[in-house]
Amino acid sequence: MKKRFLSLMCASVMAVGLLAGCGGSSDSSSDESAATEESATASSEEEASADIKADADTSDGELITVGFAQVGHESDWRTASTKSAQDVFSEENGYELSFVDCDNDSAAQLEAVRSFIEQDLDYIIIDPIVSTGWDTVLTECEEAGIPVIVIDRTIDDSDKYVAWVGSNFKTEGLAAGEWLKAYAEEKGISEINAVVISGTTGASAQIGRSEGFQEIADREGWNILDEQTGDFTEDGGQEVMENYCKSYEGQFNVVVCQNDNEAFGAMTAMDNAGVSYGPNGDVVLISFDACTAGLEDVAAEKITADFECNPLAGPFVDEVIKTIESGGTPETEVYMVEHWFALSDAIVDFEIDGEAQEMTEVTDDVIEAQY
Ligand code: AHR
Repeated sequence: MKKRFLSLMCASVMAVGLLAGCGGSSDSSSDESAATEESATASSEEEASADIKADADTSDGELITVGFAQVGHESDWRTASTKSAQDVFSEENGYELSFVDCDNDSAAQLEAVRSFIEQDLDYIIIDPIVSTGWDTVLTECEEAGIPVIVIDRTIDDSDKYVAWVGSNFKTEGLAAGEWLKAYAEEKGISEINAVVISGTTGASAQIGRSEGFQEIADREGWNILDEQTGDFTEDGGQEVMENYCKSYEGQFNVVVCQNDNEAFGAMTAMDNAGVSYGPNGDVVLISFDACTAGLEDVAAEKITADFECNPLAGPFVDEVIKTIESGGTPETEVYMVEHWFALSDAIVDFEIDGEAQEMTEVTDDVIEAQY
């Protein structure tokens, strides 16, 4: 089935190459183009959700075979991402899914992709653990005539894929920084001394969030005492925070965790060290992802603000595949729609590059609707 997609793939790759930034840097679009893409995505999200109900297998009654090389199972976000793909790529929807959990091991992820090539699957989906080291294996996919769709994190050293569906991580980091500036002003916090627990080093989610937050910190003259990786895990977050509580005792008033699971671990460490946090505590606790459990901790006045990373890419990938199946050219970049969450007392006005941001108040209904 895939051989007939070879010419389309070449055409799509050219289109990808022509798009500014696609397949380029982790900050894969300028902020302006991200804003444009994000608003464009809002309507396509509804369309994709509706389309999912139709069968993907529109041609000859055979199931479409899809391999998904998933990062691992390190976080609540990852669980939601896996579920989104498994829900969409079901036999009922015309697909046969080969799913590989790569356990945050880049070598295992390359091996998974090569096994998909050997199995001669119709499509390969990759959520790249790290953003580099991809060109050789993507060349092998291209030579085998298998279209690759990248989701969530970006690939920065190859453009040999037909589409990417994911988040603007730098915008997430900028949002956290701009929110903190406005929140600190409103609460009369005159000095920021922050510690950062970053995600997996070299993952575009880590690179973008670090760059975005650092940009605001540099502009505002904040003191970033330290940044160490917690690998996007609860255990990692706890371990790093235990070290920070010892090394910087009494010196920090902001903790930035690059995902909710790290924040859960950091909270355990701060509880054990007797450090208070959240809107009524001594430490402002910032998190990313805004999964259900993260928002529950916002509601419980533990996390001060949570910046969403939307994991529900499945329907958009389905849309890409259906477009290819029907002989069309898919969207080459799709940005997920994301929101910034807090309790009402921590909702403040802020802008990113001159664009006013809306915050979402965390309520029971909002938590209920989250993943
Ligand atoms: O790539 C997305 C990031 O990876 C999410 O923020 C995190 O929870 C996950 O592990």
